[in-house]
Amino acid sequence: MPNYPKILAFAGSAREGSLNQKLLSFSIGKVRQHGADVTVVDLRALELPIFDEDLEAHRVPQGAIELRELLRSHQGVLIATPEYNGSVPPLLKNAIDWSSRQVDGALGSEPWTGKIGAVMSASQGPFGGVRGISHLRDILTKLGVMLTPNEVTLPFAQRAFAGELPHDEFTRQLISTQAHQLVSVLNKLLQGSPAEKR
Ligand SMILES: Cc1cc2nc3c(=O)[nH]c(=O)nc-3n(C[C@H](O)[C@H](O)[C@H](O)COP(=O)(O)O)c2cc1C
Repeated sequence: MPNYPKILAFAGSAREGSLNQKLLSFSIGKVRQHGADVTVVDLRALELPIFDEDLEAHRVPQGAIELRELLRSHQGVLIATPEYNGSVPPLLKNAIDWSSRQVDGALGSEPWTGKIGAVMSASQGPFGGVRGISHLRDILTKLGVMLTPNEVTLPFAQRAFAGELPHDEFTRQLISTQAHQLVSVLNKLLQGSPAEKR
């Protein structure tokens, strides 16, 4: 049976019409064309209240447990996120914080460690979310994620995504190249290491 890499994909914005959701959807299409299985998770649909250690001591929300399990059953992560005030938006940071806590005897960072990740950002501003992506890289690296060198940052993304798909060939190519890089790194790592065992 073929051993396709499994990638968990999510966006740091859940709003209707989110440019990052559009970017993520387009990228997922490319990742699938390059031969990976993708599971999409809507962070807003998970039970993830704003992280608070008192809350955690009382009860770990189901969303944190679900996200940890989802991470464990995938080898890669694909994230598209807006930049908020030069950094990572609360929806995404909160999900990362909850999923990096020890709930089941395993190390907090364990579900993230060793994942291969690719990060993207669509922004309505001129810098394409490059500062937010840089913070996200630091956070994920701290958790043990290995990130592909290519990243996608789309400035003035409301123009690129006036419809559902990016109009210009350069943007499409940028996204496709990153998707290919993510899948090929995973394929190389999975050679001789069945996905089910990772
Ligand atoms: C609280 C907040 C802070 C923002 N800060 C930035 C910023 O630092 N840089 C930037 O390029 N855009 C910033 N924006 C604008 C976002 O680029 C824009 O809202 C974008 O469409 C959000 O992504 P989404 O369409 O996926 O929801 C900010 C938006 C909000 C709501």
